Amino acid sequence: MTTILPRIVMIGTGTGVGKTWLACELVHALRARGHRPLGLKPIESGVTEPNSTDGALLARATFDEPERAQALERSAPYRFPDPISPHLAARRVGRAVSVGEALRYVQEQESLGGSAGAFDVSVIETAGGLFSPLASGATNWELAQALDPAKWLLVAADALGVLHDLTATLLAARARGREPDAIALCRARPADASTGTNAGEIALLRIAQQPVVFPDDGAAGLERLLATLLP
Ligand SMILES: Nc1ncnc2c1ncn2[C@@H]1O[C@H](COP(=O)(O)OP(=O)(O)O)[C@@H](O)[C@H]1O
Ligand SMILES: [Mg+2]
Repeated sequence: MTTILPRIVMIGTGTGVGKTWLACELVHALRARGHRPLGLKPIESGVTEPNSTDGALLARATFDEPERAQALERSAPYRFPDPISPHLAARRVGRAVSVGEALRYVQEQESLGGSAGAFDVSVIETAGGLFSPLASGATNWELAQALDPAKWLLVAADALGVLHDLTATLLAARARGREPDAIALCRARPADASTGTNAGEIALLRIAQQPVVFPDDGAAGLERLLATLLP
């Protein structure tokens, strides 16, 4: 039997914007609230050393036991060595990413523990930006859609360029008829002159509602996000 858990899908305006960092924070915060979250990264490129991948960080946030964390990290179906777009990293090793296969993997992991239910919520990180290609005709958009019903958390960097990147991502998402459920800005780049002003400008310019900002909003920010993502 397939168990469908409440899902949080981490989508981004790009790579290196804070998706993994925030996903791990959410997993820790959920555990602190008595939940049993599962952190997954089904598709990852740039996997050369195990234990230092996004999947490893999510697995270690999920499990305290190193063996279980390692097994979870290594269970991901698509782990490619070259640090490039997943579609190209896959092609270079003679493979192709299938969104259906990635979905099946997520469902399989969510179902572990059977009816006893080892997990009660999953946090799934996509690879790169929302429209980064996974395969011919498939981007993270299609993956996130396949993972619906889910809450989509769009992450962007609190840095110069975010006003454009967020506008472009939201315009494209709206054109396709599905908006993110929440937006967060992360200190994923060295602070620049815009850092700290971006959330206010996003609201003022009506790009979106004022996003949650990390680390500025701290524990209260996580609380706000969880209230939206796990009603
Ligand atoms: N809010 C934050 N505070 C401090 N460091 C952060 C924050 N968000 C991201 N980082 C750091 O920025 C870098 C890129 O973030 P990461 O989560 O790996 O991005 P992504 O998963 O989107 O590629 C990492 O070194 C991460 O630890
Ligand atoms: Mg990441």
